Amino acid sequence: MAEAGTPGVAYGLRGVVVDDTRICKIFGEEGRLYYYGYNILELAERCSYEEVVHLLLKGRLPNKSELAQVIKDIKGARGLPYGVRDVIKSAPKTSIPMDVLRTAASALALTDPDPKDDTDEGRYRKAIRLIAQFPEIVAMDYRVRRGEEPVAPHDDLGHAANFLYMLHGTEPGKDAARTMDVALVLHAEHSFNASTFTARVIAATLSDMYSAVAGAVGALKGPLHGGANEGVIKTLLEIGEPANIKPWLEKKMQDKSFRLMGFGHAVYKTLDPRAIVLKKYSKKTGEERGTTKWYEMSEQIEQMMKGREKPLYPNVDFYSASTYYMMGLPPEIYTPIFAVSRVVGWAAHVIEQITHNKLIRPAANYIGEVDKPFVAMEAR
Ligand SMILES: CC(C)(COP(=O)(O)OP(=O)(O)OC[C@H]1O[C@@H](n2cnc3c(N)ncnc32)[C@H](O)[C@@H]1OP(=O)(O)O)[C@@H](O)C(=O)NCCC(=O)NCCS
Repeated sequence: MAEAGTPGVAYGLRGVVVDDTRICKIFGEEGRLYYYGYNILELAERCSYEEVVHLLLKGRLPNKSELAQVIKDIKGARGLPYGVRDVIKSAPKTSIPMDVLRTAASALALTDPDPKDDTDEGRYRKAIRLIAQFPEIVAMDYRVRRGEEPVAPHDDLGHAANFLYMLHGTEPGKDAARTMDVALVLHAEHSFNASTFTARVIAATLSDMYSAVAGAVGALKGPLHGGANEGVIKTLLEIGEPANIKPWLEKKMQDKSFRLMGFGHAVYKTLDPRAIVLKKYSKKTGEERGTTKWYEMSEQIEQMMKGREKPLYPNVDFYSASTYYMMGLPPEIYTPIFAVSRVVGWAAHVIEQITHNKLIRPAANYIGEVDKPFVAMEAR
């Protein structure tokens, strides 16, 4: 019988190649990331989220008229159905926003006018519907739990600016809108990560896009995945002051099982390129808001972790946390914001999976017993 820890077992599937993909490539040793061949640093600097939606769903950057069409499609798919509104309104105020998002994503399937439509057009329509409605779900939940009226989408605003508008009820300034847009571009896609793989596993059974996306939201929620950004700001707030960083870190890092949120990565063995961009925005947002404390503390933590015998580097969640915090956003919606962006990546992978599908069914290393003598009830 095999033992736990058997050589040859790919624990956590690290390094196991399970499929072909054209969507995204990560060079983990060098810290490079590409969406359909385009470097993320260039996309973050030069693209809007809507352009990235087109890139990920259609496989190429849009020209002017294609971009106008995708913007029109997203705007046309705005407006939460009453059933989904009811789900959000009926959630207890104590509920976790990611649980509300997962439930609402599932409820979107009930109001799809043609849930069984599995044509190319049908898949695109469902993807756009999810992309358009995720920010509305997050914003409505955010406001309702504060006792505020939901804010209807603003026809003249793009995806990122409209999201901030629906959260705060006022039109965001140019800087805030651009910062959110960049954050959405950076979080949109990341190859076969845990939530995307979840979506692909579900899609591979020939289930539907809503099931795949609802499952992906559940996977993203975990603190080892998208939940880390909320953990980062909690860590910064707990540390409180720059003077506390060193003793706090030294004490925590003594515990081998402790995980500093926003550091380390299953694929990157160096700085995550998304963290490079978000670091700039954390600094910039801090300067605009007149408080760079959280940025400076983050930067000090980065230096200390880099200087260890076994260096650890920030991932995407590290600098997004201080950026959002300085934008006046509360920690409990940081992971939902991640989902608002990543939903396009999930949809792209669902489409890719089902266009060359094979049911995903790995094998396991059985470490239990066999042929045990059956024991009758009276003898147990
Ligand atoms: C993302 C993560 C799960 C990847 O983990 P992984 O590839 O399985 O790496 P491991 O957990 O095996 O860690 C490898 C080593 O680095 C250490 N390590 C990795 N990330 C760490 C972290 N955030 N804090 C402390 N130590 C960490 C581990 O203790 C381990 O050390 P060891 O070799 O002495 O045992 C892990 O880095 C982590 O938990 N990070 C914090 C959560 C987070 O930010 N998640 C968002 C990812 S985008």
